[in-house]
Amino acid sequence: MSEIKIQMRNISKVFETEDMETHALKNVNLTISAGDYVSISGPSGCGKSTLLSLLGLLDMPSGGDYIIEGTNVANLSLDDAAEIRNSKIGFIFQSFNLIDEITVFDNIALPLRYSNKKLSNADIEQRVNRCLEMVSMTHRSQHKPNQLSGGQQQRIAIARALVAEPAILLVDEATGNLDSNTGDQIMDVLDELNQKGTTICMVTHESRYADRATTQLKLLDGEILTSPSPAESKIAVHAC
Ligand SMILES: Nc1ncnc2c1ncn2[C@@H]1O[C@H](COP(=O)(O)OP(=O)(O)OP(=O)(O)O)[C@@H](O)[C@H]1O
Ligand SMILES: [Mg+2]
Repeated sequence: MSEIKIQMRNISKVFETEDMETHALKNVNLTISAGDYVSISGPSGCGKSTLLSLLGLLDMPSGGDYIIEGTNVANLSLDDAAEIRNSKIGFIFQSFNLIDEITVFDNIALPLRYSNKKLSNADIEQRVNRCLEMVSMTHRSQHKPNQLSGGQQQRIAIARALVAEPAILLVDEATGNLDSNTGDQIMDVLDELNQKGTTICMVTHESRYADRATTQLKLLDGEILTSPSPAESKIAVHAC
């Protein structure tokens, strides 16, 4: 059996404002193992981004346990959470979040330069170059991000997310700012990375992308819909 990378047990998230409470996630249970390719889809407002930001330790749950590679991280201080986030989580967002003032190479190197692990310049160069190769962007390493196309910028964002060798790559609507051809190419890059062993959890509202994942989760009103049991599927087929 594959090593368990991530486990959420009975996770809830409540947003409280002056006059109302929003139960964005309710009783979420989730296990992601090494090499999994998980998609999360569902209607607007159902809690997809909230779930991804909890998975990525950008926010903390209101209740439940969250275990990353054996460590319960549900009640960590913000500083400790940031340290785990930097070493174990890679993020890809819809907006590429690259820094236009520095080169592609330096953008990708940033997570390593901010890391507690003191890597030599030679190690950093080797890792950045390997990630540039993975996304076929070696020829653009000295460009600035705003000199690249949207699809190329997203490839650089993927390389930056991978450079610290995270336990899991979290992807929130990575193709949302791209035309459909370029979006397909980015999805091909993710497919290829998964085939080589990268564990991926991605939010997408496009069913043709969700279908590429090996585990497809559907969220509705903050809850994960369980897939129908074989008996229920038979009834459904029968009813048609
Ligand atoms: N910071 C916040 N404060 C209060 N409510 C919030 C906050 N963030 C999210 N919510 C609420 O939590 C619910 C889930 O929001 P979330 O952003 O996770 O939805 P989503 O599934 O990602 O939607 P979309 O497909 O539109 O991106 C919504 O009702 C939203 O209004
Ligand atoms: Mg969202």
